[in-house]
Amino acid sequence: MNLKEHIRVIPDFPQPGIRFKDITTLLNNGPVYKEVIDHLAQRYRDSGIDLVAGPEARGFVIGAPLAYALGVGFVPIRKSGKLPGETIEVGYDLEYGKDKLAIHKDAIRPGQRVLIADDLLATGGTIASTLQLIRQLGGDVVGATFLIELSYLNGREKLGGIEIESLVQY
Ligand code: PRP
Repeated sequence: MNLKEHIRVIPDFPQPGIRFKDITTLLNNGPVYKEVIDHLAQRYRDSGIDLVAGPEARGFVIGAPLAYALGVGFVPIRKSGKLPGETIEVGYDLEYGKDKLAIHKDAIRPGQRVLIADDLLATGGTIASTLQLIRQLGGDVVGATFLIELSYLNGREKLGGIEIESLVQY
């Protein structure tokens, strides 16, 4: 399957010079969406994963169905102020902006094997923070999986040697 055919590129969004990779076109196509999730589930089925963690919001549309397909729990990593229970937080830089990410303190037990899933690896800021949150709770990060990797932004370099996979690269 050529996934790039299903990803719409929108120039100058959300600001001039950015070529936004829009996955809503892929999500809109049931058979393609299913094939992507089934493919990832197949890839990670024998990796002994206890939990999938995904950052708000697009990490949910990849991570949650993947967790379901693997039969494991899903941990939402949310922007600050959204989670109702006790949280830990960490600040991060985006390709265009800044924010804080949070996780529920009781979402991961020490030693649990966690796979990170998101739609896009850009600068790596989001996933570097996600890694920090999971590790602060004692989680063991098995790897990180993305639909899209913007290779020219070198996000991998921020992620200190964890196993990273992406389905398409730009
Ligand atoms: C996007 C994307 C990734 C992140 C990648 O999310 O879904 O999570 O940016 O960028 P980075 O590698 O430079 O950190 P965004 O924060 O725009 O939130 P959204 O999913 O709610 O749109």
